[in-house]
Amino acid sequence: MITKNIALLEERLSTIPRLGLTDLPTPLEPLPRLSAALGGPKLWVKREDCTGLGFGGNKLRKLDFVLRDAVDSGADTVVSGGVVQSNSQRQVAAAAAKLGLECHLAVYQGRLKPPTPEYERSGNALLNRFYGAHLYDVPWTGDRNEAIASLSRRLGGEGRNPYVVPYGVSNGLGAVAYSETAIEIAGQAQTLGFTPDAIVHCTGSAGTQAGLVLGASHALPETKIVGIDIDAEPERVREDVVSYGHEAAQLLGLEFDQDKVEVVAGHAGPAYGVIHDATREAIGIAARLEALLLDPVYSGKGLAGLMALIREGRWSDRDNVVFVHTGGTPALFAYGSVLDIQAGP
Ligand SMILES: Cc1ncc(COP(=O)(O)O)c(C=O)c1O
Repeated sequence: MITKNIALLEERLSTIPRLGLTDLPTPLEPLPRLSAALGGPKLWVKREDCTGLGFGGNKLRKLDFVLRDAVDSGADTVVSGGVVQSNSQRQVAAAAAKLGLECHLAVYQGRLKPPTPEYERSGNALLNRFYGAHLYDVPWTGDRNEAIASLSRRLGGEGRNPYVVPYGVSNGLGAVAYSETAIEIAGQAQTLGFTPDAIVHCTGSAGTQAGLVLGASHALPETKIVGIDIDAEPERVREDVVSYGHEAAQLLGLEFDQDKVEVVAGHAGPAYGVIHDATREAIGIAARLEALLLDPVYSGKGLAGLMALIREGRWSDRDNVVFVHTGGTPALFAYGSVLDIQAGP
């Protein structure tokens, strides 16, 4: 049932300007073959990989609001950053190309050792070049935003009017954007005849989870939001979810309930961006049973975490669980030679 709370969130969201770059709502689809194979709850997938522009992904929702702020502030240049295979910077580059803004990206080298010979040039790294982004190699120091800020200062000094898009497009405004996903899921699930017991997704720079928790507290108050940490930094992720959640709530004139933030540790594998067997299994099973293509850094680890929770018995076969496919598929090609997926007999 559409409640008064959804109406309140919708009304507040309608006051915040956006560009309209994304294809929304994204589909909510059943996963019958995966559900049967895992023998747990009924599984559904929210296709955030289908947000449209430039191979899609979860950052486009955030960019719809964040780049509207950039355009309104008169920026002529967008500055952001991420690791070599960052989906975030690929989506920033795509959106900037569409808007006719220059795009300059700090490419963090050294957060992980290149896992394959194709890592530096294929997947997202290839697409960044297609979109015409300017790429600057910088060392990874652990500070996600300093090199972006420093690049922005340099470009400002050269006479441009740069706008900084933070690492992962995660800030209060990015989280505002993500709160709408909970409204979409609520309406789509109602049409399909269920209320989700949980929404499970991978979490990293934290804006997605902050928005989902905020949105669900209005649109789906009985539904648990479960973030699977893929950064191997669950405490940092939790702190950032809480911080962006409060910022987003303030922008919308609402409250953020930080007690609802659940970040599950233990499924990031050996380190950020390093593939492991649980992720290979998740990517393989999703592709074979549902033709659903996940990636080795984010959505594949997210599904690996969900599969582990199902095997631990967290849900019964009467429960409904929505897995959010946050995108990242182009990275499959950059990790191809270490994925080791076997062909059918
Ligand atoms: C494919 C994909 N999924 C999930 C995430 C995590 O989302 P967030 O950074 O908002 O936590 C990212 C972020 O980079 C991503 O690229």
